[in-house]
Amino acid sequence: DWSMAQFRQQAIDKIRAQVGDRKVICGLSGGVDSSVTAVLIHEAIGDQLTCIYVDSGLMRQNESEQVVGLFREHFNIKLVHVDASEIFISALEGQTDPERKRKIIGGLFIDVFEDEANQIGGADFLAQGTLYPDVIESVSFTGGPSVTIKSHHNVGGLPERMNMELVEPLRELFKDEVRALGRELGLPDSFVGRHPFPGPGLAIRCPGGISREKLDILRQADAIYLDEIRKAGLYDAIWQAFAVLLPVQTVGVMGDGRTYEFVCALRAVTSVDGMTADFYHFDMDFLSKAATRIINEVKGINRVVYDVTSKPPGTIEWE
Ligand code: XMP
Repeated sequence: DWSMAQFRQQAIDKIRAQVGDRKVICGLSGGVDSSVTAVLIHEAIGDQLTCIYVDSGLMRQNESEQVVGLFREHFNIKLVHVDASEIFISALEGQTDPERKRKIIGGLFIDVFEDEANQIGGADFLAQGTLYPDVIESVSFTGGPSVTIKSHHNVGGLPERMNMELVEPLRELFKDEVRALGRELGLPDSFVGRHPFPGPGLAIRCPGGISREKLDILRQADAIYLDEIRKAGLYDAIWQAFAVLLPVQTVGVMGDGRTYEFVCALRAVTSVDGMTADFYHFDMDFLSKAATRIINEVKGINRVVYDVTSKPPGTIEWE
Protein backbone atom coordinates (compact mmCIF):
# COMPACT_ATOMS: atom_id res chain seq x y z
CA ASP A 1 0.00 0.00 0.00
CA TRP A 2 1.72 3.12 -1.27
CA SER A 3 0.13 5.66 1.07
CA MET A 4 0.85 3.50 4.13
CA ALA A 5 4.45 2.98 3.07
CA GLN A 6 4.74 6.74 2.90
CA PHE A 7 3.00 7.27 6.23
CA ARG A 8 5.34 4.71 7.78
CA GLN A 9 8.44 6.56 6.62
CA GLN A 10 7.12 9.94 7.72
CA ALA A 11 6.08 8.59 11.11
CA ILE A 12 9.53 7.08 11.62
CA ASP A 13 11.21 10.38 10.76
CA LYS A 14 8.92 12.20 13.17
CA ILE A 15 9.60 9.76 16.00
CA ARG A 16 13.36 10.08 15.47
CA ALA A 17 13.13 13.85 15.46
CA GLN A 18 11.06 13.89 18.65
CA VAL A 19 13.00 11.28 20.60
CA GLY A 20 16.60 11.76 19.51
CA ASP A 21 18.79 9.38 21.50
CA ARG A 22 16.53 9.28 24.55
CA LYS A 23 14.47 6.39 25.94
CA VAL A 24 10.82 5.46 25.37
CA ILE A 25 8.52 3.09 27.18
CA CYS A 26 5.37 1.77 25.54
CA GLY A 27 2.44 0.07 27.21
CA LEU A 28 1.35 -2.99 25.24
CA SER A 29 -2.28 -3.94 25.76
CA GLY A 30 -2.44 -6.72 23.22
CA GLY A 31 -4.65 -4.62 21.02
CA VAL A 32 -3.86 -3.65 17.47
CA ASP A 33 -3.18 0.00 18.31
CA SER A 34 -0.51 -0.45 20.94
CA SER A 35 1.09 -3.29 18.97
CA VAL A 36 1.40 -1.19 15.83
CA THR A 37 2.72 1.72 17.92
CA ALA A 38 5.38 -0.50 19.45
CA VAL A 39 6.54 -2.01 16.16
CA LEU A 40 6.65 1.40 14.49
CA ILE A 41 8.66 2.99 17.28
CA HIS A 42 10.96 0.01 17.43
CA GLU A 43 11.65 0.45 13.76
CA ALA A 44 12.49 4.09 14.38
CA ILE A 45 14.67 3.83 17.49
CA GLY A 46 15.40 0.13 18.13
CA ASP A 47 16.61 -0.64 21.63
CA GLN A 48 15.82 2.80 22.97
CA LEU A 49 12.30 1.35 23.27
CA THR A 50 11.13 -0.85 26.15
CA CYS A 51 7.62 -2.30 26.01
CA ILE A 52 5.62 -3.01 29.11
CA TYR A 53 2.78 -5.48 29.23
CA VAL A 54 0.73 -4.99 32.38
CA ASP A 55 -1.46 -7.85 33.48
CA SER A 56 -4.18 -5.83 35.19
CA GLY A 57 -6.26 -8.88 36.09
CA LEU A 58 -8.84 -7.37 33.75
CA MET A 59 -7.70 -9.25 30.66
CA ARG A 60 -9.54 -11.90 28.69
CA GLN A 61 -8.78 -15.62 28.88
CA ASN A 62 -5.21 -16.47 27.79
CA GLU A 63 -4.60 -12.87 26.75
CA SER A 64 -1.30 -12.44 28.56
CA GLU A 65 0.21 -15.64 27.13
CA GLN A 66 -0.86 -14.69 23.60
CA VAL A 67 0.49 -11.16 23.69
CA VAL A 68 3.76 -11.89 25.42
CA GLY A 69 4.23 -14.93 23.17
CA LEU A 70 3.70 -12.94 20.01
CA PHE A 71 6.12 -10.20 20.93
CA ARG A 72 8.83 -12.50 22.17
CA GLU A 73 8.53 -14.87 19.18
CA HIS A 74 7.98 -12.50 16.26
CA PHE A 75 9.75 -9.36 17.32
CA ASN A 76 13.04 -8.63 18.87
CA ILE A 77 11.60 -5.93 21.14
CA LYS A 78 12.52 -5.51 24.80
CA LEU A 79 9.44 -6.51 26.76
CA VAL A 80 8.72 -6.44 30.48
CA HIS A 81 5.73 -8.44 31.76
CA VAL A 82 4.30 -6.98 34.98
CA ASP A 83 1.70 -8.81 37.05
CA ALA A 84 -0.28 -6.02 38.72
CA SER A 85 -3.61 -7.80 39.02
CA GLU A 86 -3.66 -7.65 42.81
CA ILE A 87 -3.21 -3.88 42.80
CA PHE A 88 -5.85 -3.22 40.16
CA ILE A 89 -8.50 -5.47 41.61
CA SER A 90 -8.11 -4.26 45.17
CA ALA A 91 -8.19 -0.61 44.04
CA LEU A 92 -11.45 -1.25 42.19
CA GLU A 93 -13.14 -2.99 45.09
CA GLY A 94 -16.42 -1.31 45.99
CA GLN A 95 -16.21 1.12 43.05
CA THR A 96 -19.37 1.21 40.98
CA ASP A 97 -19.26 4.50 39.09
CA PRO A 98 -18.10 4.00 35.48
CA GLU A 99 -16.03 7.18 35.25
CA ARG A 100 -14.48 6.56 38.65
CA LYS A 101 -13.51 3.03 37.58
CA ARG A 102 -11.92 4.38 34.40
CA LYS A 103 -9.99 7.04 36.33
CA ILE A 104 -8.65 4.53 38.86
CA ILE A 105 -7.50 2.18 36.11
CA GLY A 106 -5.90 4.95 34.07
CA GLY A 107 -4.07 6.22 37.16
CA LEU A 108 -2.76 2.76 38.05
CA PHE A 109 -1.43 2.19 34.55
CA ILE A 110 0.50 5.44 34.88
CA ASP A 111 1.88 4.35 38.27
CA VAL A 112 3.05 1.02 36.86
CA PHE A 113 4.65 2.66 33.84
CA GLU A 114 6.40 5.14 36.10
CA ASP A 115 7.79 2.33 38.29
CA GLU A 116 8.99 0.41 35.28
CA ALA A 117 10.58 3.52 33.79
CA ASN A 118 12.53 3.93 37.02
CA GLN A 119 13.62 0.30 36.85
CA ILE A 120 15.33 0.92 33.53
CA GLY A 121 17.04 4.03 34.83
CA GLY A 122 14.40 6.48 33.67
CA ALA A 123 12.62 7.12 30.39
CA ASP A 124 11.87 10.41 28.72
CA PHE A 125 8.84 9.35 26.71
CA LEU A 126 5.70 7.29 27.10
CA ALA A 127 4.29 5.92 23.83
CA GLN A 128 0.57 5.32 23.40
CA GLY A 129 -1.58 3.95 20.62
CA THR A 130 -4.07 6.78 20.74
CA LEU A 131 -6.23 6.99 17.59
CA TYR A 132 -8.12 9.87 16.12
CA PRO A 133 -11.54 8.67 17.35
CA ASP A 134 -10.15 8.36 20.92
CA VAL A 135 -9.09 11.98 20.75
CA ILE A 136 -12.46 13.16 19.49
CA GLU A 137 -14.63 11.13 21.82
CA SER A 138 -12.80 12.20 24.93
CA VAL A 139 -13.17 15.83 23.97
CA SER A 140 -16.71 16.21 22.75
CA PHE A 141 -19.53 14.45 21.03
CA THR A 142 -19.54 15.25 17.34
CA GLY A 143 -21.91 18.05 16.47
CA GLY A 144 -23.20 18.48 20.00
CA PRO A 145 -22.18 20.44 23.06
CA SER A 146 -18.81 19.67 24.61
CA VAL A 147 -19.55 16.72 26.87
CA THR A 148 -17.29 13.90 27.99
CA ILE A 149 -18.87 10.62 26.99
CA LYS A 150 -16.15 8.44 28.47
CA SER A 151 -12.65 9.14 29.69
CA HIS A 152 -10.61 6.92 27.45
CA HIS A 153 -7.83 5.93 29.73
CA ASN A 154 -5.06 6.59 27.24
CA VAL A 155 -6.07 10.15 26.45
CA GLY A 156 -5.79 13.32 28.41
CA GLY A 157 -2.11 13.72 29.05
CA LEU A 158 0.10 12.76 31.92
CA PRO A 159 0.24 13.95 35.51
CA GLU A 160 2.60 16.92 35.85
CA ARG A 161 4.92 15.24 38.34
CA MET A 162 5.78 12.79 35.60
CA ASN A 163 8.71 14.04 33.68
CA MET A 164 7.66 12.28 30.51
CA GLU A 165 6.46 13.38 27.14
CA LEU A 166 3.92 11.47 25.09
CA VAL A 167 4.72 9.84 21.76
CA GLU A 168 1.50 9.13 19.87
CA PRO A 169 2.30 8.28 16.27
CA LEU A 170 -1.23 7.06 15.43
CA ARG A 171 -3.08 10.15 16.61
CA GLU A 172 -4.27 11.03 13.11
CA LEU A 173 -5.35 7.55 12.06
CA PHE A 174 -8.60 5.62 12.04
CA LYS A 175 -8.72 1.93 12.89
CA ASP A 176 -8.75 0.65 9.31
CA GLU A 177 -5.64 2.73 8.61
CA VAL A 178 -3.91 1.36 11.69
CA ARG A 179 -4.65 -2.15 10.45
CA ALA A 180 -3.21 -1.31 7.03
CA LEU A 181 -0.12 0.09 8.73
CA GLY A 182 0.16 -3.04 10.86
CA ARG A 183 0.17 -5.22 7.74
CA GLU A 184 2.73 -2.89 6.18
CA LEU A 185 4.92 -3.41 9.26
CA GLY A 186 4.63 -7.18 9.02
CA LEU A 187 2.34 -7.91 11.96
CA PRO A 188 0.61 -11.29 11.47
CA ASP A 189 -2.88 -11.10 9.94
CA SER A 190 -4.42 -12.87 12.91
CA PHE A 191 -3.16 -10.04 15.10
CA VAL A 192 -4.02 -7.16 12.80
CA GLY A 193 -7.58 -8.50 12.48
CA ARG A 194 -8.19 -8.68 16.22
CA HIS A 195 -11.30 -7.03 17.57
CA PRO A 196 -10.61 -3.84 19.54
CA PHE A 197 -10.30 -4.29 23.30
CA PRO A 198 -10.62 -1.31 25.63
CA GLY A 199 -7.77 -0.26 27.91
CA PRO A 200 -9.87 -0.62 31.09
CA GLY A 201 -10.55 -4.21 30.05
CA LEU A 202 -13.19 -6.39 31.62
CA ALA A 203 -13.77 -3.88 34.43
CA ILE A 204 -16.07 -1.91 32.13
CA ARG A 205 -17.84 -5.11 31.06
CA CYS A 206 -18.90 -5.80 34.64
CA PRO A 207 -21.26 -2.87 35.24
CA GLY A 208 -21.26 -1.92 38.92
CA GLY A 209 -18.75 -3.41 41.33
CA ILE A 210 -16.20 -5.95 40.19
CA SER A 211 -14.68 -8.92 41.98
CA ARG A 212 -12.32 -11.72 41.05
CA GLU A 213 -15.25 -14.14 41.00
CA LYS A 214 -17.27 -11.97 38.63
CA LEU A 215 -14.29 -11.46 36.36
CA ASP A 216 -13.72 -15.22 36.23
CA ILE A 217 -17.35 -15.85 35.29
CA LEU A 218 -17.21 -13.15 32.62
CA ARG A 219 -13.94 -14.49 31.18
CA GLN A 220 -15.45 -17.94 30.72
CA ALA A 221 -18.64 -16.66 29.07
CA ASP A 222 -16.67 -14.36 26.80
CA ALA A 223 -14.34 -17.16 25.68
CA ILE A 224 -17.26 -19.45 24.80
CA TYR A 225 -19.04 -16.69 22.88
CA LEU A 226 -15.93 -15.83 20.86
CA ASP A 227 -15.25 -19.50 20.26
CA GLU A 228 -18.73 -19.91 18.77
CA ILE A 229 -18.26 -16.79 16.65
CA ARG A 230 -14.99 -18.15 15.25
CA LYS A 231 -16.49 -21.57 14.60
CA ALA A 232 -19.36 -19.95 12.71
CA GLY A 233 -16.83 -18.07 10.57
CA LEU A 234 -18.21 -14.71 11.71
CA TYR A 235 -15.21 -13.20 13.50
CA ASP A 236 -14.04 -11.03 10.62
CA ALA A 237 -17.54 -9.85 9.73
CA ILE A 238 -17.91 -8.34 13.20
CA TRP A 239 -16.16 -5.20 14.45
CA GLN A 240 -16.29 -6.24 18.06
CA ALA A 241 -18.04 -8.94 20.08
CA PHE A 242 -17.94 -9.57 23.82
CA ALA A 243 -19.91 -10.69 26.83
CA VAL A 244 -21.04 -8.39 29.64
CA LEU A 245 -21.83 -9.67 33.14
CA LEU A 246 -24.84 -7.83 34.54
CA PRO A 247 -25.09 -7.04 38.25
CA VAL A 248 -28.47 -8.75 38.33
CA GLN A 249 -29.38 -12.24 39.46
CA THR A 250 -32.44 -14.03 38.20
CA VAL A 251 -34.30 -17.19 39.07
CA GLY A 252 -33.92 -20.22 36.87
CA VAL A 253 -34.46 -23.95 36.97
CA MET A 254 -31.89 -26.59 36.20
CA GLY A 255 -32.60 -30.29 36.66
CA ASP A 256 -35.03 -30.33 39.59
CA GLY A 257 -33.41 -27.39 41.27
CA ARG A 258 -33.91 -23.67 41.53
CA THR A 259 -30.99 -21.50 40.47
CA TYR A 260 -30.35 -17.85 41.29
CA GLU A 261 -27.49 -16.60 39.19
CA PHE A 262 -26.23 -13.72 37.07
CA VAL A 263 -27.47 -12.53 33.69
CA CYS A 264 -24.98 -12.38 30.83
CA ALA A 265 -25.52 -9.98 27.94
CA LEU A 266 -23.94 -10.67 24.57
CA ARG A 267 -22.87 -7.77 22.39
CA ALA A 268 -21.72 -7.73 18.76
CA VAL A 269 -21.54 -4.74 16.45
CA THR A 270 -20.43 -3.79 12.98
CA SER A 271 -18.68 -0.46 12.53
CA VAL A 272 -16.17 1.32 10.35
CA ASP A 273 -14.34 3.34 12.97
CA GLY A 274 -16.07 2.74 16.31
CA MET A 275 -17.71 6.17 16.21
CA THR A 276 -21.05 4.74 15.14
CA ALA A 277 -22.10 1.10 15.17
CA ASP A 278 -24.98 -1.23 14.33
CA PHE A 279 -25.79 -4.26 16.39
CA TYR A 280 -24.98 -7.46 14.52
CA HIS A 281 -27.93 -9.44 13.16
CA PHE A 282 -27.09 -13.00 14.20
CA ASP A 283 -29.50 -15.69 13.27
CA MET A 284 -31.40 -17.08 16.22
CA ASP A 285 -29.86 -20.54 15.91
CA PHE A 286 -26.45 -19.05 16.51
CA LEU A 287 -27.61 -17.08 19.55
CA SER A 288 -29.43 -20.07 20.94
CA LYS A 289 -26.34 -22.25 20.62
CA ALA A 290 -24.05 -19.70 22.25
CA ALA A 291 -26.54 -19.08 25.08
CA THR A 292 -27.04 -22.77 25.75
CA ARG A 293 -23.32 -23.39 25.96
CA ILE A 294 -22.75 -20.45 28.29
CA ILE A 295 -25.53 -21.47 30.65
CA ASN A 296 -24.46 -25.11 30.66
CA GLU A 297 -20.74 -24.52 30.99
CA VAL A 298 -20.41 -21.41 33.16
CA LYS A 299 -21.29 -21.75 36.80
CA GLY A 300 -22.80 -18.45 37.92
CA ILE A 301 -24.82 -17.60 34.82
CA ASN A 302 -28.36 -18.87 34.28
CA ARG A 303 -29.71 -16.41 31.72
CA VAL A 304 -28.38 -14.85 28.51
CA VAL A 305 -29.75 -11.83 26.63
CA TYR A 306 -28.66 -10.18 23.38
CA ASP A 307 -28.08 -6.43 23.14
CA VAL A 308 -29.90 -4.93 20.11
CA THR A 309 -28.80 -1.33 20.69
CA SER A 310 -26.88 0.55 18.04
CA LYS A 311 -24.52 3.52 18.57
CA PRO A 312 -25.89 6.11 18.96
CA PRO A 313 -27.92 6.02 21.17
CA GLY A 314 -25.94 3.27 22.92
CA THR A 315 -22.17 3.14 23.09
CA ILE A 316 -20.33 -0.03 22.13
CA GLU A 317 -19.14 -0.77 25.67
CA TRP A 318 -21.66 -0.68 28.48
CA GLU A 319 -19.63 1.72 30.63
P1 XMP B 1 -17.61 3.20 23.01
O1 XMP B 1 -18.00 2.29 24.14
O2 XMP B 1 -17.21 4.56 23.48
O3 XMP B 1 -16.31 2.54 22.40
O4 XMP B 1 -18.64 3.23 21.92
C1 XMP B 1 -15.76 2.88 21.15
C2 XMP B 1 -14.54 2.01 20.93
O5 XMP B 1 -13.50 2.38 21.85
C3 XMP B 1 -13.16 1.28 22.70
N1 XMP B 1 -12.89 1.84 24.03
C4 XMP B 1 -11.66 2.12 24.51
N2 XMP B 1 -10.45 1.94 23.98
N3 XMP B 1 -9.46 2.85 25.93
C5 XMP B 1 -9.34 2.29 24.70
O6 XMP B 1 -8.22 2.09 24.24
C6 XMP B 1 -10.63 3.08 26.53
O7 XMP B 1 -10.71 3.59 27.64
C7 XMP B 1 -11.80 2.69 25.77
N4 XMP B 1 -13.13 2.74 26.04
C8 XMP B 1 -13.77 2.24 24.94
C9 XMP B 1 -14.35 0.35 22.65
O8 XMP B 1 -13.98 -0.99 22.98
C10 XMP B 1 -14.80 0.52 21.22
O9 XMP B 1 -14.01 -0.23 20.33
